[in-house]
Amino acid sequence: MASFKTLDDLGDIAGKVALVRVDLNMPMDGGAVTDTTRVEAAKPTIMELAKAGAKVLLLAHFGRPKGQRNSTMSVSMTLDAVEQVLGREVMFIPEVHGPVVEQSVGILRNGDIGLLENTRFWAGEEANDPQFAADIAANGDFYVNDAFSAAHRAHASTEGLARILPSFAGRAMEKELVALASALDNPQQPVAAVVGGAKVSSKLAVLENLVARVQHLIIGGGMANTFLAARGIDVGKSLCEHDLTGTANAIMDKADQAGCTLHLPYDVVVSKEFAANPASLRVCNVHEVAADEMILDVGPQAVEALGDVFKTCKTLVWNGPMGAFETEPFDEATVALAKTAAALSIGESLISVAGGGDTVAALNHAGVASDFTYISTAGGAFLEWMEGKDLPGVTALKAAN
Ligand code: 3PG
Repeated sequence: MASFKTLDDLGDIAGKVALVRVDLNMPMDGGAVTDTTRVEAAKPTIMELAKAGAKVLLLAHFGRPKGQRNSTMSVSMTLDAVEQVLGREVMFIPEVHGPVVEQSVGILRNGDIGLLENTRFWAGEEANDPQFAADIAANGDFYVNDAFSAAHRAHASTEGLARILPSFAGRAMEKELVALASALDNPQQPVAAVVGGAKVSSKLAVLENLVARVQHLIIGGGMANTFLAARGIDVGKSLCEHDLTGTANAIMDKADQAGCTLHLPYDVVVSKEFAANPASLRVCNVHEVAADEMILDVGPQAVEALGDVFKTCKTLVWNGPMGAFETEPFDEATVALAKTAAALSIGESLISVAGGGDTVAALNHAGVASDFTYISTAGGAFLEWMEGKDLPGVTALKAAN
């Protein structure tokens, strides 16, 4: 892994202004943040810089305001949550550059924290306008990027600033990059990847990248139905992208050529209706799905066999649930396999890395998220990483060296 500078490379920063990119794009309900995971992730970096006497200016986006001020997307809406998590007073500054920021920096004492307005209120952010980045940089001495989950965006605050100021990865970014590198760039082999979720079409590039890099590709969720259909299996009323069976066949061929074993369920949980604990629920072989039934989860025999695959592997990468896990009992395969992976991780025979919104929710539901070796809270950035793409925010940090 090409290296990048971290907070360990900072010299004396007392009195210096740190421009710190964090991800505060958190779910809200009724004006309050409902999940503070992202600010919690950035807390170690923010507190370390503040403790070292820097004036810490937080840069973040919130929603997609498309270059215009929009009061429903002001970063100030996250201020209470930020203060609560940090346990500190934070000054909200309703600009990202110019005299208001300059004056605020003058008011902040060493170790104080300021929160700048939504970077996406300015068109220069998403356009990655060098002048806009320079205007922000004018009020800072150095740049810290602690927002892996926004690193797939080549924006001024995620990429442009790293070209201008001395740049460092924050603690959360550092942890994420080390964990991800150990999972796919330079993993202990054999590697298994679990890819679940509803549609093949949304994870095509992920599947194509993984077949060439892992020894076992386990496909679950609705997307498994498309692969089963491609093998000529009648999946009844199941969610299935019939127009993508050719693509699924091409992925299976590529897996064969690369020596990657592609695992599809051979028993499944089916029902005539999609509801909790339906009367028509039954477990059957994939060849026995009736025309009026839909596949809603991987069956128990396949779960056992997949658990055995985990046991032969040293590394596991997981994205997407195995079944319709939000509705019982279609969470059983996801929960059982998550528990197996967690137990192997605790026993240190498996390095397990999982990510993506649904995945984190599924592992939390299974009660094992904290037992995985690493859980990424990134959504789009995690998927782009699984696709094998370079993330502009990360590339810029490495180039800044
Ligand atoms: C996210 O929530 O995944 C990140 O903050 C990126 O947000 P975006 O998809 O609006 O760029």
